[in-house]
Amino acid sequence: MIPLSLDGAAHLLVLTGAGISAESGVPTFRDAGGLWEGHAVEQVASPDGFAIDPSLVWRFYSQRRAGLTGVTPNLAHHALVEAEARLGERFLLVTQNVDGLHPLAGSRRMLEMHGNIMRTRCSACDRAPFEDRTAYGDGVVPLCDRCSAPLRPDIVWFGEMIARATLAAIDAFVRAAGSHLVFLAVGTSGVVYPAAGLVDVARAAGGRSFLVNAEPPANAARFDHIVIGPAGRALPALLGA
Ligand SMILES: NC(=O)c1ccc[n+]([C@@H]2O[C@H](COP(=O)([O-])OP(=O)(O)OC[C@H]3O[C@@H](n4cnc5c(N)ncnc54)[C@H](O)[C@@H]3O)[C@@H](O)[C@H]2O)c1
Ligand SMILES: [Zn+2]
Repeated sequence: MIPLSLDGAAHLLVLTGAGISAESGVPTFRDAGGLWEGHAVEQVASPDGFAIDPSLVWRFYSQRRAGLTGVTPNLAHHALVEAEARLGERFLLVTQNVDGLHPLAGSRRMLEMHGNIMRTRCSACDRAPFEDRTAYGDGVVPLCDRCSAPLRPDIVWFGEMIARATLAAIDAFVRAAGSHLVFLAVGTSGVVYPAAGLVDVARAAGGRSFLVNAEPPANAARFDHIVIGPAGRALPALLGA
């Protein structure tokens, strides 16, 4: 395996996807063929889907909330906590995952670019998102106690924008790193943008890029080094954790 040397100036930018949580028992969408109970994932994870059938959307997310009970981080999550401890401000983790396993493992220099499934927000008013582990399994749509509009999971759905502050923080990190940037993608199929384009941002900065995935993803050709294997085994080895 190619060692991922993190010398004095190296800045490590990590992007994780659903694959890093697979060994914790959290299914990826693609494992299920992109379907949930016969519905395309876009139907239960998009603003249009929510407008058409909010009850269906809440059943989907309620099931996923319930499925996360007792789920714990695995060796790959822990290896990233250790890398953060070694690198300090030369480390940034960007996750597409909404399962909260990175913060649970202890990651702090971290951006949850697609939100967190254990938070709820109002679909209409600007009250702050709040922690919510409730499974609304019976399909009753919860309503906002300020404005009576339907509440929704605090997730960035297909067709929605990533928070500007998140993109700005990634940009600032990449600039600070310059050619010392080391980009590492883990467990992501490379089809959901803008995350899938981060490898190109790293290349443009003159940095090195690594990928750990169970199979070659859609954007595999754009990485310098690829490790095919389960993240729980491959990532600690690559990071020397
Ligand atoms: N855990 C979660 O929070 C969660 C679960 C499902 C989907 N999602 C999100 O939905 C979007 C698309 O979902 P998706 O499921 O296609 O995810 P994805 O696009 O991130 O693809 C998952 C990738 O992980 C790989 N993989 C599977 N098991 C692995 C392992 N043990 N080690 C390394 N790689 C492994 C697969 O080969 C696949 O390429 C993303 O934003 C994703 O993060 C999040
Ligand atoms: Zn409201």
